[in-house]
Amino acid sequence: ETQLWRVDPEAADLENDPQIKAAAKCLSDGEIVAFPTETVYGLGGNAKFNDSVRKIYEAKGRPSDNPLIVHIATMEQVREICTEINPLAKKLMDTFWPGPLTIILPSRGEVSDAMTAGLSTVSVRMPSHPVARALILASGLPIAAPSANTSGHPSPTQADHVLHDLYGKIAGIVDGGETGVGVESTVIDATTTPMTILRPGGISREQLEEVIGPVADDPGLTRPDQAPKAPGMKYKHYAPEATMYLVPAGKTRIQELVAHEKNSDRRVGVLTTEENKKDFPQADVVLTCGRRSEPESVAHNLFAVLRNFDSQDVDVIYSETFAETGIGQAIMNRLSKAAAGRVIE
Ligand code: TXA
Ligand code: MG
Repeated sequence: ETQLWRVDPEAADLENDPQIKAAAKCLSDGEIVAFPTETVYGLGGNAKFNDSVRKIYEAKGRPSDNPLIVHIATMEQVREICTEINPLAKKLMDTFWPGPLTIILPSRGEVSDAMTAGLSTVSVRMPSHPVARALILASGLPIAAPSANTSGHPSPTQADHVLHDLYGKIAGIVDGGETGVGVESTVIDATTTPMTILRPGGISREQLEEVIGPVADDPGLTRPDQAPKAPGMKYKHYAPEATMYLVPAGKTRIQELVAHEKNSDRRVGVLTTEENKKDFPQADVVLTCGRRSEPESVAHNLFAVLRNFDSQDVDVIYSETFAETGIGQAIMNRLSKAAAGRVIE
């Protein structure tokens, strides 16, 4: 059965907390355990142990060609896992670690082949969440961890989301409350020149370029005729049960679309912001994902709101869109996947 360990992320000496120690013991016994990071909850297992990694794929229903991220807590662990850390990659680590940045480097072959899906590279991330750090240190292991959701669902930002998707399928959940950033880490390939962003996330392109100069975007992220370089980006993801549409023209256009639905028997949802939430009285369900003037709040709430729509029994969702600067790039990437690319002009 799935155990639940409640932990206060602000408590002192977390590494020796009995709950953390119990979770760490599960990890070293080869079991899999969900835990909070500053981005989303992860589903962790011993990165060096094929059986643990297989359990992760199985619990999530994840295709085996989609490699996992190794979570570490010290630079020593990075050097054990990667053959070389080039100077620009080192600069990124010094600037953004611990934090929401995942760096792809050549692998030493120290982690399980199942974890890297047979690739010669490995993706590494040092999370900043105190519970994640304590758990990694207490286990003494590099921890393989994808987001702790069923494959295809929005990533979990609360322990309840993990319970909903994975209860009975994993050894336990460390509940450290809501995560902070709310969207996953940025994935950058440090083996190319210039480096390539494979997944926009918690660290923005602007932040990266300030430190290492120009970075490229994986063309596969936006071009339907080209496969993304991160295997995970090609899969359907984040989709609510209702059919979702993005409406870049904004509020007035959404009001028109909602009014038009009054002639149908479909239940209509609107995904909006605090600034506009009073403006859709004709919609059946109106949910806000934060303040338009504070994009960080939108990132923080986004996945919980997408999950919330599933319990509201709507047939169609019209969503506002956001500027693709800063964290907005990650927000729009997740929203367009949730909408399976559907846009209404
Ligand atoms: O914020 C996060 O990154 C969260 C938390 C738990 O740390 N983790 C997460 O993992 O989002 P996951 O497995 O859901 O997404 C990892 C992405 C996938 O798209 C995967 O294909 C890509 O990173 N990836 C991992 N290793 C790779 C590699 N060696 N080459 C290319 N893409 C890789
Ligand atoms: Mg994921």
